Amino acid sequence: MKKLTQTAVAALIATLGTSAVTSANAEDIKVGLLLPYSGVYAALGNEIEAGFRLGLETFGGETTDTFEIVTEDTEVKPPVALGKAKKLVLQDEVDVLVGIVSSGVLGAVRDFVDGAKVPLIVANAGNDEATGASCSAYITRLSFSNGQVNRPMGTHLYEQGVRKVFTMAPDYAAGRQMIGAFAESFTAAGGEIVGQDWTPFQKTQDFGPYMANAKASGADAVYVFYAGGEAISFVKQYDSFGLKADLPLYGAGFLTSPLYVNAQGPAAIGVIAALHYVPTIENDANKVFVEAFSAANGRSPSEFAVHGYDAARALVLASAGGANDGEALAAALSKTSFDGPRGATSIDPATNNIVQPIYVYETVANENGEGLTQKILATLPATPDAANGCTLGG
Ligand code: PHB
Repeated sequence: MKKLTQTAVAALIATLGTSAVTSANAEDIKVGLLLPYSGVYAALGNEIEAGFRLGLETFGGETTDTFEIVTEDTEVKPPVALGKAKKLVLQDEVDVLVGIVSSGVLGAVRDFVDGAKVPLIVANAGNDEATGASCSAYITRLSFSNGQVNRPMGTHLYEQGVRKVFTMAPDYAAGRQMIGAFAESFTAAGGEIVGQDWTPFQKTQDFGPYMANAKASGADAVYVFYAGGEAISFVKQYDSFGLKADLPLYGAGFLTSPLYVNAQGPAAIGVIAALHYVPTIENDANKVFVEAFSAANGRSPSEFAVHGYDAARALVLASAGGANDGEALAAALSKTSFDGPRGATSIDPATNNIVQPIYVYETVANENGEGLTQKILATLPATPDAANGCTLGG
């Protein structure tokens, strides 16, 4: 951002006349994209960046400001990511950070971002604490929270007649929180968790032993959170283990994300999961988004693409509203509200977390028999997360 002081602007206007006002007010906003470009979430990082760049292209004309992007690879490693966040802020002097895929990484950078007073737009990581007890005026989430996506599925599965569930997830913050939220609502509805396995994160290649535990548990269904490379392996192994017919597979919808469902192939058919975005949502904003993304990338966008796209839109809106320093940008971001590809999308100023509908969907074969698509089974109303210890709302 060109840090023009009030006096410098006044001097420019006096010298050049009022026609210079617009350009004197136009800022160059430097954006630090902090994403995984290696590790099990590398594809997610690239997809978020593609969505973000498309968002700037689509909405950028709404502000006179321009945007410059600097990227850094978190490698899905919390200490590495913290070092990269510091580099982006202290060395590159970015005005805003956008990104973060892993809940573990978000937990690691939270205090630095809050202390440095640099706005962070979270474009994936669902860590509940970042918009709960560890919330910050500088952290605004345009993606989802782990609780928000999984809580409705506990009730939904019970209503579908499922009574006994075995759960599996990678052993880190996101896995624990997603399964925790599901288990809480499922048991509150009357269901029983008959067993749980936590697989070593980024290290598990063979899910067989855990699947054997699920099979022996007496469960009527399995509920999991896996994403990226782990989701591809898990869904394929679940099918080849022959479990799908006896033990229906449910989960947080990242499991069968459109980003990699084609790599899973027929193994993904019949998996039922919940997410805040699938490309088959029918609304005008999604039609525009799907068309533009498909034209640029030759395939439908995923939830990760919409996180980037909406993050760009929120940033443009904040900048168009005149926000030109960290504090003003952060304050403006917490007032974000628009009708986007996911439906009505807004930020709850009490937590800075997003409020959005949740879609239960099944992965099915395309009508033409080629490829897979997402059939929406239920649309669950948008409900803001509880403040969970966040005091932003007073
Ligand atoms: C997370 O760590 O918060 C996370 C990672 C990948 C996902 C969803 C959540 O797809």
